[in-house]
Amino acid sequence: MLPKEAWVRTRVPLGAPGEPFSWSRAFGREAPRVLDLGCGNGYWMIHSGLARPEVDHLGVELVPPALRLGSLRAGQRGLSHVKFAWGDASEFVVSRCPPSSVDEVHLYHPQPYYDAQGHARRQLTPEVQGAIHRVLKPGGLFVFQTDNPAYMSYARRTLPALFEFCERFAPWPDLPAGRTLREIVARSQGLEIFRAESRPLSLSEALRESRVSALPSPDFDANKPAGRRPGKSARKT
Ligand SMILES: C[S@@+](CC[C@H](N)C(=O)[O-])C[C@H]1O[C@@H](n2cnc3c(N)ncnc32)[C@H](O)[C@@H]1O
Repeated sequence: MLPKEAWVRTRVPLGAPGEPFSWSRAFGREAPRVLDLGCGNGYWMIHSGLARPEVDHLGVELVPPALRLGSLRAGQRGLSHVKFAWGDASEFVVSRCPPSSVDEVHLYHPQPYYDAQGHARRQLTPEVQGAIHRVLKPGGLFVFQTDNPAYMSYARRTLPALFEFCERFAPWPDLPAGRTLREIVARSQGLEIFRAESRPLSLSEALRESRVSALPSPDFDANKPAGRRPGKSARKT
């Protein structure tokens, strides 16, 4: 942690609903951009920001205490390129984030919502998948990770319509003990972690929209027990 006089502000407003977000105004520079949808306490963003000072990081989170903690920790480390915004990450990526403006989108452990009433609040909807495809630059990266097998089955069924979908069967080398707080907790409970790295397929806007409209809604049963990974024996990493 830096001495207090070196702390920096790391909160940023998303702006008015529907108004395009200006990355260059928020960060005061042009740089590669990383977006974390539902960043929680920002554990991964802070580590990534420490390792990659040349990259701007924006975390969008709905729960203020988690956001405040992440923002404080980043500020105490002088990470002015790691910023936190309060708001609905789905609304942000669908309505405010400009097209082809982001190098990486990360979605770690979205809540599975075990009751049917919560299904509508799930983050990885067809609309959000289409929006992630739209905001990523060509060749960009979408990282999805969950410890819920049914959520991963849904991702396997839907993401390949828009992305070159590639599962990762080992912990991340940058943070082998876990990239996020939820990953660390889930592994301590013996849960299996499912990770995927996806790259946007080259699609016209019209083709993207028609594929999005054909995708099923995420109304899967999150209580389903773990299934076997395709072509892999069950492992807990
Ligand atoms: C299980 S936690 C995971 C947090 C973090 N990504 C991690 O892996 O540790 C899910 C997080 O997503 C946030 N969240 C859920 N829906 C959201 C939304 N629509 N917009 C922003 N954040 C959301 C929750 O507040 C919570 O912090």
